[in-house]
Amino acid sequence: MTHTPDALFDALWRDYVAVTPSAPAIHAKLRARGERVLNDHIALRTFDLDPIGLDTLAAIFEAHGWTTSGTYFFETKRLRARSLSHPDPTLPRVFISELITSDFPLYVRATAEALTRHIASTGRTGPDLLTAHPSWPTPDAATYDALLNVSEYAAWLALYGLRANHFTVSVNALTTFPTLADLNAWLTAEGFALNTSGGAIKGTPAALLEQSSTLADRIPTRFACGATRDTPSCYVEFARRYPDSDGTLFDGFVTQSADKIFESTDTKPGAS
Ligand code: NI
Repeated sequence: MTHTPDALFDALWRDYVAVTPSAPAIHAKLRARGERVLNDHIALRTFDLDPIGLDTLAAIFEAHGWTTSGTYFFETKRLRARSLSHPDPTLPRVFISELITSDFPLYVRATAEALTRHIASTGRTGPDLLTAHPSWPTPDAATYDALLNVSEYAAWLALYGLRANHFTVSVNALTTFPTLADLNAWLTAEGFALNTSGGAIKGTPAALLEQSSTLADRIPTRFACGATRDTPSCYVEFARRYPDSDGTLFDGFVTQSADKIFESTDTKPGAS
Protein backbone atom coordinates (compact mmCIF):
# COMPACT_ATOMS: atom_id res chain seq x y z
CA MET A 1 0.00 0.00 0.00
CA THR A 2 1.12 3.48 -0.69
CA HIS A 3 -0.64 5.40 2.03
CA THR A 4 2.37 6.84 3.79
CA PRO A 5 4.62 9.38 2.09
CA ASP A 6 7.64 7.06 2.32
CA ALA A 7 5.74 4.19 0.70
CA LEU A 8 4.41 6.50 -2.00
CA PHE A 9 7.86 7.90 -2.84
CA ASP A 10 9.32 4.38 -2.79
CA ALA A 11 6.68 3.25 -5.29
CA LEU A 12 7.24 6.33 -7.47
CA TRP A 13 11.00 5.69 -7.36
CA ARG A 14 10.58 2.04 -8.43
CA ASP A 15 8.40 3.01 -11.41
CA TYR A 16 10.85 5.77 -12.33
CA VAL A 17 14.04 3.69 -12.27
CA ALA A 18 12.28 0.95 -14.26
CA VAL A 19 12.45 3.29 -17.27
CA THR A 20 15.39 5.49 -16.18
CA PRO A 21 18.56 3.41 -15.73
CA SER A 22 20.70 6.55 -15.51
CA ALA A 23 19.00 7.55 -12.22
CA PRO A 24 20.20 4.69 -10.00
CA ALA A 25 23.56 4.83 -11.84
CA ILE A 26 24.03 8.51 -10.94
CA HIS A 27 22.89 7.96 -7.35
CA ALA A 28 25.32 5.03 -7.00
CA LYS A 29 28.22 7.06 -8.40
CA LEU A 30 27.43 9.93 -6.01
CA ARG A 31 27.29 7.54 -3.05
CA ALA A 32 30.61 6.03 -4.15
CA ARG A 33 32.08 9.54 -3.66
CA GLY A 34 30.70 9.54 -0.14
CA GLU A 35 27.74 11.75 -0.98
CA ARG A 36 24.32 11.52 0.65
CA VAL A 37 21.62 11.86 -1.98
CA LEU A 38 18.56 13.87 -0.93
CA ASN A 39 15.65 14.55 -3.27
CA ASP A 40 14.93 18.26 -3.76
CA HIS A 41 11.69 17.52 -5.58
CA ILE A 42 9.84 15.16 -7.84
CA ALA A 43 7.75 16.27 -10.80
CA LEU A 44 4.43 14.88 -12.01
CA ARG A 45 2.69 15.53 -15.33
CA THR A 46 -1.03 15.16 -16.00
CA PHE A 47 -4.02 16.25 -18.10
CA ASP A 48 -6.47 18.84 -16.72
CA LEU A 49 -9.25 16.22 -16.73
CA ASP A 50 -11.13 14.44 -13.93
CA PRO A 51 -10.11 12.37 -12.03
CA ILE A 52 -6.41 13.15 -12.63
CA GLY A 53 -6.28 16.97 -12.68
CA LEU A 54 -3.64 19.00 -10.87
CA ASP A 55 -5.84 19.72 -7.86
CA THR A 56 -6.74 16.03 -7.40
CA LEU A 57 -3.11 14.94 -7.54
CA ALA A 58 -2.05 17.79 -5.23
CA ALA A 59 -4.64 16.62 -2.68
CA ILE A 60 -2.78 13.28 -2.37
CA PHE A 61 0.15 15.23 -0.92
CA GLU A 62 -1.90 17.85 0.94
CA ALA A 63 -3.46 14.98 2.91
CA HIS A 64 0.05 14.33 4.31
CA GLY A 65 1.02 17.91 5.15
CA TRP A 66 2.30 19.37 1.87
CA THR A 67 1.17 22.93 1.15
CA THR A 68 1.34 25.05 -1.99
CA SER A 69 4.54 27.09 -2.33
CA GLY A 70 3.93 28.57 -5.78
CA THR A 71 1.78 28.55 -8.91
CA TYR A 72 3.10 28.76 -12.46
CA PHE A 73 1.88 29.16 -16.04
CA PHE A 74 3.72 28.05 -19.16
CA GLU A 75 2.41 30.16 -22.00
CA THR A 76 3.82 28.29 -25.02
CA LYS A 77 3.50 24.75 -23.69
CA ARG A 78 -0.04 25.48 -22.36
CA LEU A 79 0.58 24.16 -18.86
CA ARG A 80 -0.53 25.18 -15.41
CA ALA A 81 1.58 24.07 -12.48
CA ARG A 82 1.83 24.17 -8.71
CA SER A 83 4.66 23.38 -6.31
CA LEU A 84 4.12 21.95 -2.85
CA SER A 85 6.46 21.74 0.12
CA HIS A 86 6.44 19.82 3.38
CA PRO A 87 7.53 21.22 6.76
CA ASP A 88 9.85 18.19 7.11
CA PRO A 89 12.83 19.26 4.98
CA THR A 90 13.81 15.64 4.33
CA LEU A 91 10.57 15.11 2.37
CA PRO A 92 10.81 16.21 -1.29
CA ARG A 93 8.94 19.14 -2.78
CA VAL A 94 6.38 18.13 -5.39
CA PHE A 95 5.98 19.99 -8.70
CA ILE A 96 2.76 19.11 -10.53
CA SER A 97 1.87 20.40 -13.98
CA GLU A 98 -1.25 19.81 -16.08
CA LEU A 99 -1.82 20.23 -19.82
CA ILE A 100 -4.63 22.66 -20.63
CA THR A 101 -6.30 20.26 -23.06
CA SER A 102 -8.96 22.74 -24.22
CA ASP A 103 -6.18 24.83 -25.81
CA PHE A 104 -5.31 22.01 -28.24
CA PRO A 105 -6.85 20.61 -31.44
CA LEU A 106 -9.77 18.22 -31.10
CA TYR A 107 -7.68 15.09 -31.70
CA VAL A 108 -5.41 15.94 -28.78
CA ARG A 109 -8.39 16.52 -26.50
CA ALA A 110 -10.05 13.32 -27.70
CA THR A 111 -6.91 11.27 -27.02
CA ALA A 112 -6.43 12.80 -23.57
CA GLU A 113 -10.10 12.19 -22.73
CA ALA A 114 -9.95 8.56 -23.88
CA LEU A 115 -6.85 7.88 -21.77
CA THR A 116 -8.37 9.62 -18.78
CA ARG A 117 -11.67 7.70 -19.17
CA HIS A 118 -9.63 4.52 -18.81
CA ILE A 119 -8.37 5.72 -15.42
CA ALA A 120 -11.89 6.72 -14.40
CA SER A 121 -13.15 3.24 -15.35
CA THR A 122 -10.68 1.62 -12.96
CA GLY A 123 -12.11 3.53 -10.02
CA ARG A 124 -8.58 4.38 -8.83
CA THR A 125 -8.29 7.20 -6.35
CA GLY A 126 -5.58 8.77 -4.20
CA PRO A 127 -2.01 7.46 -4.46
CA ASP A 128 -3.17 4.58 -6.68
CA LEU A 129 -3.67 7.16 -9.46
CA LEU A 130 0.11 7.59 -9.46
CA THR A 131 1.35 4.10 -8.63
CA ALA A 132 -0.98 1.64 -10.40
CA HIS A 133 0.67 0.88 -13.74
CA PRO A 134 0.13 1.09 -16.59
CA SER A 135 -2.08 4.14 -16.18
CA TRP A 136 -3.79 3.33 -19.48
CA PRO A 137 -3.19 1.18 -22.57
CA THR A 138 -0.11 2.05 -24.65
CA PRO A 139 -1.11 4.19 -27.67
CA ASP A 140 -0.27 3.22 -31.22
CA ALA A 141 2.66 4.94 -32.91
CA ALA A 142 0.43 7.10 -35.12
CA THR A 143 -1.34 8.53 -32.07
CA TYR A 144 2.00 9.20 -30.35
CA ASP A 145 3.38 10.92 -33.45
CA ALA A 146 0.23 13.02 -33.91
CA LEU A 147 0.54 14.24 -30.31
CA LEU A 148 4.25 14.95 -30.80
CA ASN A 149 3.38 17.31 -33.64
CA VAL A 150 1.66 19.70 -31.22
CA SER A 151 2.91 18.82 -27.73
CA GLU A 152 5.96 16.83 -26.63
CA TYR A 153 4.37 16.91 -23.16
CA ALA A 154 1.11 15.30 -24.37
CA ALA A 155 2.97 12.60 -26.29
CA TRP A 156 5.19 11.77 -23.30
CA LEU A 157 2.21 11.62 -20.93
CA ALA A 158 0.17 9.43 -23.30
CA LEU A 159 3.04 6.96 -23.53
CA TYR A 160 4.43 6.96 -19.99
CA GLY A 161 1.31 7.70 -17.96
CA LEU A 162 1.14 9.10 -14.45
CA ARG A 163 4.53 8.61 -12.81
CA ALA A 164 7.41 10.71 -11.53
CA ASN A 165 8.80 12.44 -14.61
CA HIS A 166 12.00 13.11 -12.68
CA PHE A 167 13.57 12.94 -9.27
CA THR A 168 15.89 15.82 -8.44
CA VAL A 169 19.16 15.57 -6.56
CA SER A 170 19.57 18.33 -3.98
CA VAL A 171 22.91 19.97 -4.78
CA ASN A 172 22.75 21.78 -1.43
CA ALA A 173 23.08 18.40 0.29
CA LEU A 174 26.18 17.42 -1.71
CA THR A 175 29.59 18.11 -0.16
CA THR A 176 32.12 17.41 -2.93
CA PHE A 177 30.80 19.77 -5.61
CA PRO A 178 31.33 23.48 -4.81
CA THR A 179 29.15 24.58 -7.74
CA LEU A 180 26.49 23.19 -10.06
CA ALA A 181 28.97 23.71 -12.91
CA ASP A 182 31.39 21.34 -11.11
CA LEU A 183 28.65 18.73 -10.81
CA ASN A 184 27.73 19.14 -14.49
CA ALA A 185 31.37 18.69 -15.54
CA TRP A 186 31.57 15.48 -13.48
CA LEU A 187 28.29 14.16 -14.96
CA THR A 188 29.56 14.84 -18.48
CA ALA A 189 32.88 13.13 -17.70
CA GLU A 190 30.92 10.14 -16.37
CA GLY A 191 29.13 9.92 -19.72
CA PHE A 192 25.73 11.45 -18.93
CA ALA A 193 24.32 13.82 -21.58
CA LEU A 194 22.91 17.08 -20.20
CA ASN A 195 19.94 19.10 -21.45
CA THR A 196 21.54 22.23 -22.93
CA SER A 197 18.30 23.96 -23.97
CA GLY A 198 18.72 27.49 -22.60
CA GLY A 199 22.25 26.56 -21.38
CA ALA A 200 23.25 23.62 -19.18
CA ILE A 201 22.47 25.68 -16.06
CA LYS A 202 18.99 27.17 -15.84
CA GLY A 203 18.56 30.05 -13.40
CA THR A 204 21.06 32.09 -11.40
CA PRO A 205 21.99 32.66 -7.76
CA ALA A 206 20.11 35.98 -8.03
CA ALA A 207 16.96 34.04 -9.00
CA LEU A 208 17.71 31.86 -5.91
CA LEU A 209 17.58 28.62 -7.90
CA GLU A 210 20.00 26.96 -10.32
CA GLN A 211 18.95 23.76 -12.09
CA SER A 212 20.40 21.34 -14.60
CA SER A 213 19.26 17.97 -15.88
CA THR A 214 20.27 14.99 -17.94
CA LEU A 215 18.54 14.31 -21.22
CA ALA A 216 15.88 11.65 -20.77
CA ASP A 217 16.99 8.06 -21.18
CA ARG A 218 15.82 6.41 -24.40
CA ILE A 219 13.90 3.22 -23.82
CA PRO A 220 12.87 0.54 -26.33
CA THR A 221 9.13 1.02 -26.70
CA ARG A 222 6.53 -1.29 -28.23
CA PHE A 223 3.44 0.61 -29.37
CA ALA A 224 -0.03 -0.92 -29.50
CA CYS A 225 0.24 -1.26 -33.28
CA GLY A 226 3.33 -3.44 -32.88
CA ALA A 227 5.82 -0.80 -34.04
CA THR A 228 8.96 -0.52 -31.92
CA ARG A 229 11.17 2.50 -31.39
CA ASP A 230 13.32 4.07 -28.69
CA THR A 231 11.47 6.91 -26.94
CA PRO A 232 12.58 9.45 -24.28
CA SER A 233 11.45 8.28 -20.84
CA CYS A 234 12.56 10.15 -17.72
CA TYR A 235 15.58 12.13 -16.60
CA VAL A 236 17.54 13.23 -13.53
CA GLU A 237 17.50 16.84 -12.38
CA PHE A 238 19.88 18.71 -10.06
CA ALA A 239 18.85 21.76 -8.06
CA ARG A 240 20.84 24.23 -6.00
CA ARG A 241 18.80 26.62 -3.87
CA TYR A 242 19.95 29.94 -2.39
CA PRO A 243 18.69 31.90 0.61
CA ASP A 244 16.80 35.16 0.11
CA SER A 245 17.77 38.42 1.84
CA ASP A 246 16.08 37.17 5.04
CA GLY A 247 18.21 34.03 4.99
CA THR A 248 15.26 31.80 4.05
CA LEU A 249 16.11 29.12 1.50
CA PHE A 250 14.09 29.66 -1.69
CA ASP A 251 11.31 27.08 -1.76
CA GLY A 252 9.64 27.66 -5.13
CA PHE A 253 10.51 27.35 -8.80
CA VAL A 254 11.47 29.71 -11.63
CA THR A 255 9.06 29.52 -14.57
CA GLN A 256 11.59 30.32 -17.29
CA SER A 257 13.98 27.63 -16.00
CA ALA A 258 11.25 25.01 -15.62
CA ASP A 259 10.12 25.77 -19.16
CA LYS A 260 13.52 24.63 -20.45
CA ILE A 261 13.76 21.68 -18.04
CA PHE A 262 10.52 20.30 -19.53
CA GLU A 263 12.42 19.89 -22.80
CA SER A 264 14.61 17.15 -21.26
CA THR A 265 12.05 14.65 -22.58
CA ASP A 266 11.84 16.10 -26.10
CA THR A 267 12.26 13.59 -28.91
CA LYS A 268 14.55 16.10 -30.65
CA PRO A 269 16.37 17.83 -27.78
CA GLY A 270 17.39 21.40 -28.47
CA ALA A 271 15.07 21.68 -31.49
CA SER A 272 12.69 24.12 -29.83
NI1 NI B 1 12.11 19.60 -11.69
